[in-house]
Amino acid sequence: MNFFLIGYMGSGKSTVGSKLAQVLDYNFIDFDDYIQSKEKKTISEIFQSKGEIYFRKIENIYLKELIEDTANTIISLGGGTPCYGNNMELIKASKHSKSIYLKASIPVLTERLFNEKGKRPLIAHIDSKEEMVEFIGKHLFERTNYYNQSDATILTDNKSIEEITEKIILELF
Ligand code: S3P
Repeated sequence: MNFFLIGYMGSGKSTVGSKLAQVLDYNFIDFDDYIQSKEKKTISEIFQSKGEIYFRKIENIYLKELIEDTANTIISLGGGTPCYGNNMELIKASKHSKSIYLKASIPVLTERLFNEKGKRPLIAHIDSKEEMVEFIGKHLFERTNYYNQSDATILTDNKSIEEITEKIILELF
């Protein structure tokens, strides 16, 4: 089995993914890290030097590669991965796999992302929390339709990493 963790930036995909892998004794891949090591550049450097369209192109290519090459792995995707090209179709069609949407509220995402925006090129330019709330609200609205195609949805507000991990396991097994 492979499990894909899906959700907006700052929804805890990487933290929960690595905990889930530890508990289930699965491999763990953070898809952003995978792209960074393949390209030998950080995500910010890729956006800066080649632009977002290039990033979305390689994101699609590496997703196909990853799906073909992995088993027994928890994969934390990038926040935009399911929302471009045929990525969500690839995820849904991938054999022996399940996808989980980690759903966090706009205030929780805003608090987290405002402090961690530096390494995220899509939000790095936002200088006030008010602007961040507005940006996330619109962006999430555009993306929700993709995220909602996941096999399971876990509401994460006010839950610890352990509680989220446990909920995922209860939901999927
Ligand atoms: C993006 C999310 C990022 C990264 C890139 C674009 C997005 O991943 O893939 O900056 O479009 O939401 P995280 O969700 O891990 O921050």
